[in-house]
Amino acid sequence: MEKTNHIYPIFDRMMTRTDKEELLRQRGLMIWFTGLSGSGKSTVAIALERELHRQGFLCRILDGDNIRTGINNNLGFSAADRVENIRRIAEVGKLFVDTGIITLAAFISPSNEMRQMAASIIGEQDFVEVYINTPIETCEARDVKGLYAKARRGEIRDFTGVSAPFEAPEHPALSLDTSVLSLEESVNRLMEIILPKIRK
Ligand code: ADX
Repeated sequence: MEKTNHIYPIFDRMMTRTDKEELLRQRGLMIWFTGLSGSGKSTVAIALERELHRQGFLCRILDGDNIRTGINNNLGFSAADRVENIRRIAEVGKLFVDTGIITLAAFISPSNEMRQMAASIIGEQDFVEVYINTPIETCEARDVKGLYAKARRGEIRDFTGVSAPFEAPEHPALSLDTSVLSLEESVNRLMEIILPKIRK
């Protein structure tokens, strides 16, 4: 028999999301944190990743400062650049979710339209919106990066919450105010809603 007769199309097909999820014994999910700069998005995402990892789940954090020094290093903070920032992050996030990975995105993502775009790209059923609704007074008092002070002095233009808008999400799956909740409490609340969605 000639070799060319023996073509097995299955070898040409990419492994599916289901294959990956079975391998990992988990379901892929996007946990999308939104909130002001300094609200605690990254801190909560990092603590959540630790807890999920401890419980045997494979995770990946996508975070503002990392993405903006890498794949999105050509983008600034105009309205159009922020949309493009979020669009690319959503496309990259979808690749992770489609690999069965619990993906944690921590970006200001200041408008409903932007977050809706991200949810549409990723798929509504795989998208959990978490609003870190720490009051701006707390974010500004923390001023971890000294950016609020600069924005107030007019040294940074279009700074979210000072000179650029932030729209609160309308129906987040969860809201967490890190000025009143301990990190542990925030993680517990997240785990409660996430575990049923990611367990196989
Ligand atoms: S987003 O609006 O496009 O979603 P993203 O989360 O990627 O923002 O980046 C926000 C981070 O960039 C902030 O935490 C802050 O460190 C920094 N930053 C620099 N300039 C600005 C600005 N004008 N507005 C908001 N954040 C800024």
